[in-house]
Amino acid sequence: MRRLTKAATPRSAAGKSPATDKSIAARLDGVPHCGSLIIHAFPFKYGRFMYHHLPVYAGDPILSLHEAFLADPRVNKVSLSIGLYFDEHGRLPVLDCVRQADLKLREQERPSGYLPIEGAPAYRAAVQRLVFGADHPAISQGRIATIQGVGGSGAIRIGADFIKNFMPGSEVWISDPTWDNHESLMQGAGLKVGRYPYYDAKSNGLRYDEMLAFFGNLTSGSVVLMQPCCHNPTGIDLSHEQWAGVIEVMKKNSLVPFLDMAYQGFGSGVEEDAWAVRAMVDAGLCPLVTNSFSKNFSLYGERCGGLSVVCPTAEEADRVLGQLKAGIRRVYSSPPLHGEQLVATVLDTPALNQRWIEEVREMRERILRMRVLLAQNLTAGLPGMSVDFLTEQHGMFSYTGLTATEVDTLRDKHGIYLVRSGRMCVCGLNAGNVKAVADALIVVWKARG
Ligand code: LMR
Repeated sequence: MRRLTKAATPRSAAGKSPATDKSIAARLDGVPHCGSLIIHAFPFKYGRFMYHHLPVYAGDPILSLHEAFLADPRVNKVSLSIGLYFDEHGRLPVLDCVRQADLKLREQERPSGYLPIEGAPAYRAAVQRLVFGADHPAISQGRIATIQGVGGSGAIRIGADFIKNFMPGSEVWISDPTWDNHESLMQGAGLKVGRYPYYDAKSNGLRYDEMLAFFGNLTSGSVVLMQPCCHNPTGIDLSHEQWAGVIEVMKKNSLVPFLDMAYQGFGSGVEEDAWAVRAMVDAGLCPLVTNSFSKNFSLYGERCGGLSVVCPTAEEADRVLGQLKAGIRRVYSSPPLHGEQLVATVLDTPALNQRWIEEVREMRERILRMRVLLAQNLTAGLPGMSVDFLTEQHGMFSYTGLTATEVDTLRDKHGIYLVRSGRMCVCGLNAGNVKAVADALIVVWKARG
């Protein structure tokens, strides 16, 4: 590959004769160039316009909204936008198992050295047991390459880089709709991303047959990103029977599942929610699986997640682990220490593990109670309208069918924050605010006429 001549870049940095857009374009004309060359070629000059050519970041649709919520001075405001689990008092809980693990860890002297590139061995082993089941043969056969992720997002990005580097030409397919960041994370790695049918607005259900037919038409090696439980943003999950149909098509078409499990335990149970992951591995598929402890440990800021790549053989798993390490080393070098120690201590200490299972159950049951309570309040005020979807969906999120304008009205007039897609995080509901939320929804829905 040809490179730009020296004259094309640093002269302007020295402040002598800044390169103009035109002169750069002329030098680049016909030169095969990559992104880094373009960066060198920008008309660099210290001063007011150094970064003037940058587009303004519009903000993240979920995180910016949460910032707006925090800045909102209204006392009765309700956060139903960002995926945070709040307790009955509207607080982010500190789980008792985590508190106990923290106390236990504080009793020890803990120097803060670097973790291995791939993360702490005990944590990685705990991730495997939790995701695949403690006795899964793929673990004992050494067929799973697992790395500690910087949250679920960091794990997805490392997986995306891996696909980009080692599965050349693979396209990634995400559900329509999905969590916004799925697309950004995949595109950020340079992957082509498309959408497969998922949500049916008419029935507030799943476009299962269309989805299956779509998978049947994908070329072999295509990567299909799915969520094993508590689909974000719709709350609509596949039944076991439907998963079995997906597995059959994926095997037939040699598709590669990428399973993102961010809410394990918030659907039906910690073991139950991993059903699809395990069924795929049992069926001989080799999924990439990301998981997160943000929600089920209420450890959002600790950025604890994992990426596990299931391989046909242990020898391949070793190679994969090596390349995942190489990928991590050039991005953030090694993961952070404290959060993983909390998670591993809980999962490795039988009494704390038991306590965690109970606390996840309590969170799950509270979510369900809020769904029921909201549905009851809505039915009382809107007798003709079916809100069964609220109790049929799973996990933190519910797709309400509200339009962006209706969401804006809820926020502006009632201080109730939802994502503009109509996604509601039901974990922000509690006995003290559910009636007010239902009343506001009734006003908005009645205004439709
Ligand atoms: C969400 O979907 O609201 C959460 O996962 C937070 C995030 O990072 O978007």
